[in-house]
Amino acid sequence: MILLTEKDKATVRAFWDKVSSKSEDIGTDALARMLTVYPQTKTYFKHGITVMGGVGLAVSKIDDLKAGLLNLSELHAFTLRVDPANFKIISHCILVVLAIMFPQDFTPEVHVSMDKFLACLAMALAEKYR
Ligand code: HEM
Repeated sequence: MILLTEKDKATVRAFWDKVSSKSEDIGTDALARMLTVYPQTKTYFKHGITVMGGVGLAVSKIDDLKAGLLNLSELHAFTLRVDPANFKIISHCILVVLAIMFPQDFTPEVHVSMDKFLACLAMALAEKYR
């Protein structure tokens, strides 16, 4: 179980403020990368922009991701039946794209907090699978 510290949350919020205007590009690149590097994900829909909308929602619900993402978790678990292993895969792709697109802002400090945040996001999305 990963716990986000208040410092992690502040780092994520500040970094998100800087990058969120590029959500569309980040989402498109992360999705393209996921489909290329992990071809098994091709069976699913293409929704790079939608995913980043969900990430933005998660930033706003960072104090209680489990409750904040409950509806999204139910959607992916029961309606879409997405294999939850894919949440880790897309999180990784988003992290890689953020590092490429924002090399100056993507400091080791941002790296660790975003990595933890995305891991918590993936866990919250997988919540309803249990
Ligand atoms: C960071 C992880 C993810 C977030 C934040 C996220 C978020 C979202 C959101 C906000 C929607 C739209 C919900 C609605 O219409 O009410 C959605 C739909 C969907 N998600 Fe995800 N998602 C994530 C990961 C994934 C992954 C890894 C897959 C499959 C590989 C996937 C497959 C789908 C599908 C098939 C839909 C419905 C079709 C579509 O909107 O294109 N999602 N997701």
